[in-house]
Amino acid sequence: MKILVTGGTGYIGSHTCVELLNEGYEVVVIDNLSNSKIEVVDKIKEITNKDFKFYEGDCCDKNLLIKIFKEHKIDAVIHFAGYKAVGESVQVPLKYYRNNLDSTITLLEVMNEFNCKKLAFSSSATVYGKPKSLPIKEDFPLSTTNPYGTTKLMIEDILRDLAKSDNEWSIAILRYFNPIGAHKSGLIGENPNDIPNNLMPYIVKVATKELECLSIFGNDYDTKDGTGVRDYIHVVDLAKGHIKAIEKVLKDKGVDAYNLGTGNGYSVLEIVNTFKSVNDIDVNYKITTRRPGDIDACYADPSYAKEKLDWEAKLGIDEMCKDAYNFVINYNKDE
Ligand code: WQD
Repeated sequence: MKILVTGGTGYIGSHTCVELLNEGYEVVVIDNLSNSKIEVVDKIKEITNKDFKFYEGDCCDKNLLIKIFKEHKIDAVIHFAGYKAVGESVQVPLKYYRNNLDSTITLLEVMNEFNCKKLAFSSSATVYGKPKSLPIKEDFPLSTTNPYGTTKLMIEDILRDLAKSDNEWSIAILRYFNPIGAHKSGLIGENPNDIPNNLMPYIVKVATKELECLSIFGNDYDTKDGTGVRDYIHVVDLAKGHIKAIEKVLKDKGVDAYNLGTGNGYSVLEIVNTFKSVNDIDVNYKITTRRPGDIDACYADPSYAKEKLDWEAKLGIDEMCKDAYNFVINYNKDE
């Protein structure tokens, strides 16, 4: 079976390529390297000792997608490619709507032309907005509070309409919670070039003294210790969820959405303190004001993914914190 992975050199995409190759799938990757590095291609090959075809390019490039589908018999697609910075999406919404929607519609048109109608789509828990209660189930109301999240919800609606129009489509919509951590090898992981928006990469850069101090955005939320609570999931568990989703779309028809989370909520302070203790390192932080748009707490009810995909997260926050730090230490060693 041959799987096209768009955005396959990105953080979640690269970890998913490793799991696909380990499971014996053939893999083809397209990535424009706008948020990842070409070296990741060789790292994936080193980890798996498997080869795969890489195309540098953009999913908005219809001719390139047609070339790929002509050169390979693609059985299914995992679509990661897209811009994903919440804050940036508020600043430049048109860039997000143009890129995320155009690339997805172009991909779907080419898939349709080549009668490849099996897709796993990278969505996000952000489509739930501020949940009415916790834990979050897939049938909760959907609403978004930023352009990034709105592109994800719009694409989900496009996929639902597509499946309604043609019952040959088989689509798994995967709603990620908060992916952190890295592959145990330390060869791939999350290491943004600029100042990180997300908590864990920021913690890591403070631990390695690349950044001076972590700002904890508010400790007056209605949570166990006042700091924000999220459902952190190891990126390898998340990657394995994609394997299960591909197995399902290859077998079934129709469209469905699945929460890929652990079902456990941890606060910012719990993550910081766990990171410090498992890595035996200090992390300098201060409490500051809330970040606009943040919600108090968000964590999944992952039972539907367990029931329908036979998937559940297995790794805990100790391993997430250890593996996140191990990657950057290993990465900086090679620099
Ligand atoms: C986690 C917690 C912050 C940074 C976002 C996107 C979501 C998904 C995951 C793409 C919150 C706090 C953070 C910092 C802090 N991305 N924090 N200081 O906001 O839950 O989700 O990333 O799909 O769509 O919305 O993740 O890591 O930014 O924040 O105190 O420097 O850490 O307030 O409570 P978030 P995050």
